Amino acid sequence: MDKEKIKKTKGISRRNFLKGLGAGIATGIVYPKGAESQVIYESLGETQKRAKINIWVNGILYDMEVENRATLLELLRDYLELAGTKMGCNSSECGACTVLIDGKAFYSCSILAVDCDGKKIETIEGLSKNGELHPVQKAFIEHNAFQCGFCTPGEIMSLKGLYDVNPAPSKEDIIIALSGNLCRCGVYKDIMEAAISLSRSGK
Ligand code: FES
Ligand code: FES
Repeated sequence: MDKEKIKKTKGISRRNFLKGLGAGIATGIVYPKGAESQVIYESLGETQKRAKINIWVNGILYDMEVENRATLLELLRDYLELAGTKMGCNSSECGACTVLIDGKAFYSCSILAVDCDGKKIETIEGLSKNGELHPVQKAFIEHNAFQCGFCTPGEIMSLKGLYDVNPAPSKEDIIIALSGNLCRCGVYKDIMEAAISLSRSGK
């Protein structure tokens, strides 16, 4: 195991996360639902139950302690500060939070971080190599396959999961792979064109 790639995090809790942002609360900045609920939870005197996990994220092994109730999405965004994975609905409906777990696309809002112990997670931050974008990212740019971009990381991760196992998917394969990703801006035509261009090129 490459020790250079092991990072230890000292049980960063959303409490610590909030402490760092405490001034922000006083000034009325709106925080994610989970962060607000943490304040309520701790003010009731509840004991946080935590577990140690080892989790690979974008090729780095993290040896960390997380709250049992934290989702993978919270681990990525609040603990590791990888905010490329988006929280849309937070209830398995929109696909904005899609990441790859051991190569398969999952909604990270709907799986507990503790259940990812020992797993390999890929997020949008891990796609470019040596400063070069991944072919799926390039295709999205070439085909203007986004407007606000909020759904884009999830769409890209779903397609990355597909192309990793099938370099030349059919249109139907692409539709199935993207069926869990909603785009409120409605740029589905451009997203499909980007995906089909990749399929033709066999990248
Ligand atoms: S945020 Fe996970 S499916 Fe919408
Ligand atoms: S580009 Fe805005 S939600 Fe898809």
